[in-house]
Amino acid sequence: MKALVLSGGAGTRLRPFSHSMPKQLIPIANRPVLEHVLDKVRELGVSEVGVIVGDRSAQIVAAIGDGSRLGLKVTYIHQDEPRGLAHCVVLAREFLGDDDFVMYLGDNMLPDGVTDIAREFTQERPAAQVVVHKVADPRSFGVAELDRDGRIERLVEKPAEPRSDLALIGVYFFTPAIHEAVGAISPSARGELEITDAVQWLVTQGAQVTASEYSGYWKDTGRVDDVLECNSKLLEGVVSSVQGEVDAASELIGPVVVDKGARVLASRIVGPVIVGAGTTVEHSRIGPNTSIGVDCVLRHTSIGSSIVLEGAQVTGVQGLHGSLIGRMACVGEAEGPAPHHRLVVGDHTRIEVAA
Ligand code: G1P
Repeated sequence: MKALVLSGGAGTRLRPFSHSMPKQLIPIANRPVLEHVLDKVRELGVSEVGVIVGDRSAQIVAAIGDGSRLGLKVTYIHQDEPRGLAHCVVLAREFLGDDDFVMYLGDNMLPDGVTDIAREFTQERPAAQVVVHKVADPRSFGVAELDRDGRIERLVEKPAEPRSDLALIGVYFFTPAIHEAVGAISPSARGELEITDAVQWLVTQGAQVTASEYSGYWKDTGRVDDVLECNSKLLEGVVSSVQGEVDAASELIGPVVVDKGARVLASRIVGPVIVGAGTTVEHSRIGPNTSIGVDCVLRHTSIGSSIVLEGAQVTGVQGLHGSLIGRMACVGEAEGPAPHHRLVVGDHTRIEVAA
């Protein structure tokens, strides 16, 4: 079995981050979402992975390379603009050949893994097998309506009035039967070739299409709040490890990782927290549920339930909570005689201050 991982997409819901980086590289527990996804793909015993990339491909290639670091052989396939998930299958035709494959959205986190579902697929080999999860509001997803034997009766993309609470959660298993299906459908109202429509086409043709329910933790990391929630979830697994320096005036409580070359001085850290390599934390209170990337500087600051990306500096700011601070961003005290706020804020940035 091969894998097709989709990492194009504009990521408009993750602005301003997606103005400068592909959403698949947002760090969760200090590793890009895409690396977590590729780990899960490798767990299925797959080694050949096609990664669909869009106009931010250079950053993805720089982060993942040929995949050997992750035990994979990665082939990049370029998509000129987001034309739909089924269009990705069309583009990957040559890479996929006549092999079965798992298609995995590069921004969907299923940390509990889908190895059982993959095994079922390999044994039964239905034309297609989709992974579904019960959600409270299925209207923003593809929705599966099943009969009593778990066979799919109908799949609908983003129905206004869903007839089931089973959402498609970004992992699909296909035999080569999908290639005829993606060739047979037309673009949807949003102008994209929907994989949901392609799978529905197989259902209409009478092909065997099944659904497997994933009951573990799932998150589409499409929005900032989802990214932060997922970060907290993954930090639950953190095991204390101090490879950097922690001075005698500092206190570490609960699971805390201090990576190589990081320095924690006169600070209190309440885990789970990760402090990335080369970062300095001084006279600060950090945590819980916070990950700080590499080469950051935090001074006289308190921050919790947040993610700080590489190279950011935060100085003299108290009470930061639920924040996502971008690469090389500077957050600090305003200089000058009169107390004031000074904002140099990029496009689509969101700032919320205490009243
Ligand atoms: C896509 C699929 C949808 C699926 C969702 C999962 O939606 O079209 O069927 O439920 O991913 O994240 P999109 O994120 O493109 O709106």
